[in-house]
Amino acid sequence: MDYNESVPIQTGATAGYASATEHAPAAAPGLPQFASIEAMVKAVQPAQPVHCLHPEKLVEAARTFIDHFPGHSLYAIKSNPDPYVLKRLHDAGITHFDVASLGEVRQVREMFPDAHLAFMNPVKSREAIRSAYYEYGVRDFVVDTRDEINKIVEETDRAADLLIVVRLGMPKGSAACQLTGKFGCLPDIAVELLKDAAKVAARVGLSFHVGSQTLDPASYANAIRMGSDVVRRSGVTLSVFDVGGGFPIPGLGMDIPPLTAFFDVIRDEIAALGLPEECEIWSEPGRALSGNCSTLVVRVELRKDDVLYINDGSYGNMFEVCSMSWKNATAAMRLPRAGTKGRRALSKTSALFRFYGPTCDSVDYLPGPFTLPDDINEGDYIALEGMGAYGSASQTSFNGFHSDTKVEIIPGVAATHTRRRNPRGAKHLKVVK
Ligand SMILES: Cc1ncc(COP(=O)(O)O)c(C=O)c1O
Repeated sequence: MDYNESVPIQTGATAGYASATEHAPAAAPGLPQFASIEAMVKAVQPAQPVHCLHPEKLVEAARTFIDHFPGHSLYAIKSNPDPYVLKRLHDAGITHFDVASLGEVRQVREMFPDAHLAFMNPVKSREAIRSAYYEYGVRDFVVDTRDEINKIVEETDRAADLLIVVRLGMPKGSAACQLTGKFGCLPDIAVELLKDAAKVAARVGLSFHVGSQTLDPASYANAIRMGSDVVRRSGVTLSVFDVGGGFPIPGLGMDIPPLTAFFDVIRDEIAALGLPEECEIWSEPGRALSGNCSTLVVRVELRKDDVLYINDGSYGNMFEVCSMSWKNATAAMRLPRAGTKGRRALSKTSALFRFYGPTCDSVDYLPGPFTLPDDINEGDYIALEGMGAYGSASQTSFNGFHSDTKVEIIPGVAATHTRRRNPRGAKHLKVVK
């Protein structure tokens, strides 16, 4: 095969993830399977973006949290609600879920009737609260105002089995993606809300979110100390101390410590708090569970100097790559083309590139910069790592562009699909006979 890799694809092992070998998932029937990304590109020559799913990365991530986080880890399904992802995480042992809408509540409950669901959106409609409680058995709700406590009490008819978790706001920390401002209350208000919640709920908890893709474990230490001060001042007996999401993944162009470094800091800080023995410790990872599970393969449609016009963008699977200026690790591939015998392999010299997505909107721009072979051009493929979280989850159909194509990468497997001649839309795969 005639392709070059500009940057080797980083594996989860380099990021401090546990080995998946003992828990290797069975190949899932249903999705087209290929032994490698290169094998998929060669066989399919896809005209649309393709998510290449790596099931073992989901198992590794799940086992890392289950084996090393000092408490329960609730998967924040907003990061990737694909049933494929949910099923593999659940099979690997994730049985607690952070849900933030009635749609998410319904989806998880239908897939896993026994799962533990916590409704972690601090602003919920009355209908969602009532339905979550009565139809789907949700008992845990987060709040950051007195009004939201009132809504929960009223819509559950003063239920005697509620857990109300107060979300404390956070100052700007070391996260690449700050979440300050929208949710979370000031410490003085959190003290009052804990006292109010303790009067109406069977159990109370405290949570925060230090921001997504947090780079420094010290951000959790600071947040835990802020939280502990609030709990001490409130005088309530805490049932849940929830350190939120925010854990980072590799492959987005920044140096990160291994996840175990975050867990060590959290374990030490929590031990120093002297919480009651029955108090549960929770985390709500989204990105760290789903982010590594997908490599997105896109195609270059045109080159203008250092700008590549590619077939996916901010309205598709790359919203965060645009809004957060991620610099994903990339690999480039060039296929031989009919009638161009001897087409040169990609150059070994690299250069920096920016991308435009396929829509006509000029905000559909991915500044990167991305490191790629300096002669990359129309028809070449680019594989972007770390696209499992907040990518396909926020895809739109704006301007007529939408791609749902997902394949599974299982090393050693015989390809189940091949290229469909004259593909229409995303239907560019056909079963191997
Ligand atoms: C309440 C809550 N919990 C957890 C998460 C997941 O965060 P992350 O993907 O950074 O782990 C989010 C993300 O927005 C969130 O809002």
